Amino acid sequence: MEKIHNNKAVIGIVGLGYVGLPLAICFTQQFTVIGYDISKKKIASLSKGMSYINDVTNIELEKCIGKTLYPTNNRNDLKKCNFIMIAVPTPLTQDKKPDLAPIVSATKDIAAVLQHGQTIILESTTYPGTVEEVMKPILEESGLIAGKDFYLAYSPERIDPGNKSHTVCNTPKIVGGMNDATTNKVAALYQTVIKAPVVSVSNIKTAEATKIFENVFRAVNIALVNELSIVFDNMGINTWEVIKAASTKPIGFLAHYPGVGVGGHCIPVDPYYLSYKARKIGHLTRFIELAGEINKYMPIHTVHLALDAISKSNVNIGNATVTVFGASYKPNTSDTRDSPSYDIIQYLKGYVGNIQFYDPYVKEIEVDGIVYKGCASIKEALNCDCIILAVAHDKFTDGTLEDMILSSSVQAVVDGKNMINKKKLPGITVIGIGDGI
Ligand SMILES: NC(=O)c1ccc[n+]([C@@H]2O[C@H](COP(=O)([O-])OP(=O)(O)OC[C@H]3O[C@@H](n4cnc5c(N)ncnc54)[C@H](O)[C@@H]3O)[C@@H](O)[C@H]2O)c1
Repeated sequence: MEKIHNNKAVIGIVGLGYVGLPLAICFTQQFTVIGYDISKKKIASLSKGMSYINDVTNIELEKCIGKTLYPTNNRNDLKKCNFIMIAVPTPLTQDKKPDLAPIVSATKDIAAVLQHGQTIILESTTYPGTVEEVMKPILEESGLIAGKDFYLAYSPERIDPGNKSHTVCNTPKIVGGMNDATTNKVAALYQTVIKAPVVSVSNIKTAEATKIFENVFRAVNIALVNELSIVFDNMGINTWEVIKAASTKPIGFLAHYPGVGVGGHCIPVDPYYLSYKARKIGHLTRFIELAGEINKYMPIHTVHLALDAISKSNVNIGNATVTVFGASYKPNTSDTRDSPSYDIIQYLKGYVGNIQFYDPYVKEIEVDGIVYKGCASIKEALNCDCIILAVAHDKFTDGTLEDMILSSSVQAVVDGKNMINKKKLPGITVIGIGDGI
């Protein structure tokens, strides 16, 4: 506590990716931070002051590298830390089971250098029980005892990459420790750098469950609105207008929006962590499975809409060139993990003559072993018969795209995110998810 209040605590961050790097920068406001990652490429890049994440600029890095932030591939450097936060990936195996290999290997690295008095905090999203059932036994192999020689806590990361208003530094944080003293200490630490409430919960499992609940909630509600958008489309009702109207209700409604599918490291992945753990104790999580099925169907639905739009505009489907606008999984980021655009390209491949993509943040993608080089400009991307607007990057929604489409060869548009002003596209077949047409 004294070290926290005197800004003398040394913070270790294990895993410097989309979560770990912004978190490390946030802690450099008050503390010395050791950033440990197994990737030699990332540490080399950071050491040169070169960021590989949109949300962290080179200018921000320059201010702290070698002064308050020390990137390293050497786990021994973690010995100097009072607190070590783990932000490594939590992916799924092929058969949708949790792949805890990165957490296990990071924990083993920490166990090898564990010191008396250190507090280890997991930030990665995972199922309830991971810290106490998986990490604690590995750390105790060091001979040190949890609660006596070292301490454990869980504090989930809620970062939303690409979001300019809600950052790691101003989003409320949840903390659950192995005992009250640990919870209070960890909450006090986060509160020194986070300009939002740090909320303590009664134990580690509650904190783990809170994060997974948030992501299940999102997956299920996105699936609900995706399914309803298909139903409303067939009833001639505009889902976007329905959501806007429903949002006027001050209580009990929270807007979610339809789209071409879900992607990223969280929504298509995390719910299955809970499914797995629930199955272990004999429970089925039917909402999670159903939401997964519906969200996974949306890229197929998008392809069906594209084929419909192409045939309505009298272009031969087999000869058509289609450009997918957006390869990332969400706006204004280069993160392509689990992006539905990949699924769209994969399904489309069997039908149309030529597929290309354009994304201002992504130069090249590989789908099913085929490498697609992104179009160099919007103009080049519009040299086609049909476009699928998959991601609402600011560059696509700044009001200039409509005129560019009108002066291009494009005959058909599928709008996955209510991005385009249809009234400005006379003579062009436009089908929008949720447009009710
Ligand atoms: N990306 C998001 O939007 C987001 C938001 C909230 C929570 N999360 C969760 O945070 C966790 C991290 O996600 P991310 O998006 O930052 O992943 P990421 O892949 O961007 O970064 C993970 C980093 O960990 C490193 N790493 C892997 N194994 C390691 C090990 N054994 N030791 C040290 N470093 C190791 C990797 O090299 C990489 O740099 C996941 O559990 C994710 O679900 C992600």
